[in-house]
Amino acid sequence: MTEQARNALQWCGIRPGAEEVRDERAETAESRVAMRDAMTALMQHYRDIEPLQMRDLFARDPQRFDRFSVEAGDLLLDFSKNRITDETVSLLVQLAEAAGVPEMRLAMFRGDKINNTEQRAVLHTALRNRSGSPVLVDGQDVMSGVNREIARMGAFAERVRSGEWRGFSGKRITDVVNIGIGGSDLGPKMVCEALEPFIQPGLALHFISNVDGIATEEVLSALDPETTLFIVASKTFTTQETMTNAATAREWFLSRCGDESRIAKHFVAVSTNSEAVADFGIDVDNMFVFWDWVGGRFSLWSAIGLPIMIAIGEQHFSELLDGAHAMDCHFMAAPLEENMPVLLALLGVWYQNYFGAESHAVLPYDHHLRSLPAYLQQLDMESNGKSVDRDGQPVLTTTSPVLWGATGINGQHAFYQLLHQGSRLVPADFIATAETHSGLRHHHDIMMSNFFSQTEALMRGRTLAETEGAIAETGQDPADAGHRVNHMIFEGNRPTNTLLLRKMTPRNLGMLIALYEHKIFVQGVIWNLNSFDQWGVELGKQLARTILDEFDAQASPATHDASTNNLISRYRRMTGREDLAPGERH
Ligand code: F6P
Repeated sequence: MTEQARNALQWCGIRPGAEEVRDERAETAESRVAMRDAMTALMQHYRDIEPLQMRDLFARDPQRFDRFSVEAGDLLLDFSKNRITDETVSLLVQLAEAAGVPEMRLAMFRGDKINNTEQRAVLHTALRNRSGSPVLVDGQDVMSGVNREIARMGAFAERVRSGEWRGFSGKRITDVVNIGIGGSDLGPKMVCEALEPFIQPGLALHFISNVDGIATEEVLSALDPETTLFIVASKTFTTQETMTNAATAREWFLSRCGDESRIAKHFVAVSTNSEAVADFGIDVDNMFVFWDWVGGRFSLWSAIGLPIMIAIGEQHFSELLDGAHAMDCHFMAAPLEENMPVLLALLGVWYQNYFGAESHAVLPYDHHLRSLPAYLQQLDMESNGKSVDRDGQPVLTTTSPVLWGATGINGQHAFYQLLHQGSRLVPADFIATAETHSGLRHHHDIMMSNFFSQTEALMRGRTLAETEGAIAETGQDPADAGHRVNHMIFEGNRPTNTLLLRKMTPRNLGMLIALYEHKIFVQGVIWNLNSFDQWGVELGKQLARTILDEFDAQASPATHDASTNNLISRYRRMTGREDLAPGERH
């Protein structure tokens, strides 16, 4: 075993001993056969499981909850309301083994360049490595840099929070505006909302991501430049939306406060690109760095988490990292059949690849988690929304589901009809906390009663006899209800996972986020994807650059398809660039 592998195991509290730890994923004829066999076995098994009703499985087996639930820290995952038996779990675990999940997991943790299209290590786990063990990239331990940056962030955050860091006119900072998009926005925004009870009173956090000027103006118009701190967050520091918003914020500031020298007190940057930060006019002393081995959508644990650190303080940020680290250790150490991220991943594969489900819903019954679905959309769909595998070959199964969702109770009155009686199977994750931060305890109980009732209803459904019974209870004769009865039957057998957290704390949130990161990683391994690049976002960006130039060109463009040419032409006319469209082309 290599030194890196030993380190990775040690940092998760695993002592590499006599037991065999496979640390290489060898793509051999044998492994390909094992994968094919595992998939074939699951296909055969699917035919046995498909007709079974979960309500019967529950009726036959009073221990079903005990066998199909796992706990890690303050997180409980109940996956008993799935269309599975013991054999399903065992076959799915065989699939994970055949796909090389244990080997790839170790490869990620020890810093192999598993992002093979960009030749990069994938080490968001190192950002929350609390063990003191080194992590090597190209022979260099990255942990000193990681810890140095966390310490710099902590010191800066405490200066802002204590009022020591003041605006140019000596006033205390009251508003922090994060300007970033995608991974440089969604994670910090989601966490700041989730941990709102931990935010220092008197500090308001704002997030500007969209290049839509209305969104930018909306935030800026409510701010006092003398008490506002802008964090310009961009891994590349070239993202057009972020750079445009940052330039607008800078102009807004200068137009009100004059002097360029005052910028230093009001603009800091987070990036991997110091040159571009300096070019933008931000002093690199006011820059917080991270590294190319941190993917944008996995970056909230890095300096990208600066707004979180300012909002909740160094100690709570540290607890967030502790939670993620605890989930990392669980992911590394727990047997696959008891491993929360592995189980969630395998259940997803079960429904996407065998039942033909196309989407997956995330339904938090928690106002604090209202942005979790949006955050997970990027995490999941930008990672695994791919149809070419690691080796550049077409993928033969479906990959990332369309992930969607919204807070639970609101969803019940909007789209749950489709979950219960629609023609599509939509597996769903129900997420809630047992303890609430709200003083309105009875509100929480009402919400939680719905939380439990929905998964019960989705699983049980309501048979014809039960429906007729329900009609009879209202005093009506079911015979008079006619075909209405058919509309009131619930097929049931709709799978859900329930994630119950004891309380929304930084640590538990860290665990929850890391749980989903690893779930997505495992699915990527099973589908043999590189989950850490995102080439699919490039083409639209490139075309947009060309089109932007065409708005003010001499004539309407003729180089696109007829639809795009005409739309650009109409836009030019509607915005007064052109009186007559020369190119209403067909
Ligand atoms: O366009 C997609 C993307 O590259 C994401 O992967 C990333 O999180 C986002 O843009 C923002 O990138 P940056 O942090 O470099 O501005």
